[in-house]
Amino acid sequence: MPTKVVLIPGDGIGKEISEAVQKILSAAGADIEWIPAEAGDAAYQAHGDPLPQRTVDLIEEHKLVLKGPLTTPVGSGFRSVNVSLRQKFDLYANIRPAKSLPGVDSHFTHVDLVTFRENTQGLYIGQERYTNDDKSNAESIAVVTREASDRIIRAAFDYAVNKGRKKVTLVHKANILKLTTGLFLEVGKEVAKDYPDIEFTDMIVDNCAMQMVLRPEQFDIIVTTNLFGDILSDLASGLVGGLGVTGSANMGKTHAMFEAVHGSAPDIVGRDIANPTALLFSSVMLLEHIGQNEPAEKIRKAVDKVLINKNVCTPDLGGRGTTQSYADAVCEEIKKK
Ligand SMILES: NC(=O)c1ccc[n+]([C@@H]2O[C@H](COP(=O)([O-])OP(=O)(O)OC[C@H]3O[C@@H](n4cnc5c(N)ncnc54)[C@H](O)[C@@H]3O)[C@@H](O)[C@H]2O)c1
Repeated sequence: MPTKVVLIPGDGIGKEISEAVQKILSAAGADIEWIPAEAGDAAYQAHGDPLPQRTVDLIEEHKLVLKGPLTTPVGSGFRSVNVSLRQKFDLYANIRPAKSLPGVDSHFTHVDLVTFRENTQGLYIGQERYTNDDKSNAESIAVVTREASDRIIRAAFDYAVNKGRKKVTLVHKANILKLTTGLFLEVGKEVAKDYPDIEFTDMIVDNCAMQMVLRPEQFDIIVTTNLFGDILSDLASGLVGGLGVTGSANMGKTHAMFEAVHGSAPDIVGRDIANPTALLFSSVMLLEHIGQNEPAEKIRKAVDKVLINKNVCTPDLGGRGTTQSYADAVCEEIKKK
């Protein structure tokens, strides 16, 4: 029985990169039945709703989603569908691996770290207000709870155990934000006692940012609160070549959504030059999540080979190829095995 996965191609380059990914997964023998669904700007234009009820119902039913980028209007208009989906399905763990890749231009060659970002709390709960009439003062509330801290920190340690990783670094600012990130650190120290085989350390966020660009190979798994995780996970992507080559997962207790973290790239839509690697790596995370490790491994190995061939890679990877030539080359490599 194939595993049913809701596929939201998304806006802009979403259609091009999802078609490439579907082609590659099929070549690798992934046993998936795609359930197409709409969200984002295209859904808004067609139905007056960026997150139609049909899409919510399909996700509720099938529990797994692969999602392309969604256009979000800046300043006004509908609110981010990405944020709505995370909240609706309580996708509390944002997981972002960043690994150096052959052939991808970057400042480092031995980065292999995974960021676990708490996805539901911190400063991202939307509690902001002006505190005077002329709107010259504003404040924002951050929420951290023991329960939410516990589950994301445990998710990071469990991942370490399951993937044979050695070390978890908890990142905080408990010297200044003593109550909120202080609580996060306190919970981390407690949870760490349940995982004696995994090294545990903590680091203040500003030092962490510097250490990541000085000596990124010292990091294995980073776990942190929402805002710090948002920033550090993009920083980590930057260490290995950018958002075009890093996948991500948003996991909850019952549902999981895998997505490319780059945007809808309106400047290159329809030109067959969009790089599908980020969505492809997100789909590989999905395959591993559902236990289809064989096609996942085939794809990883094939991508490593293809990335060094500049004739087939997309221009953002320094290549002279297209979305199609990249996808075809990955399929060819898979068939060679
Ligand atoms: N996860 C998401 O759905 C997500 C994330 C970020 C931005 N967005 C949305 O995307 C829209 C455009 O945002 P933006 O321009 O700030 O960021 P963007 O990521 O779409 O584009 C930034 C630059 O990177 C390039 N780029 C991005 N992805 C690429 C890919 N796969 N292959 C080749 N080049 C790629 C673009 O061509 C552009 O030059 C906005 O509406 C924004 O809200 C969505």
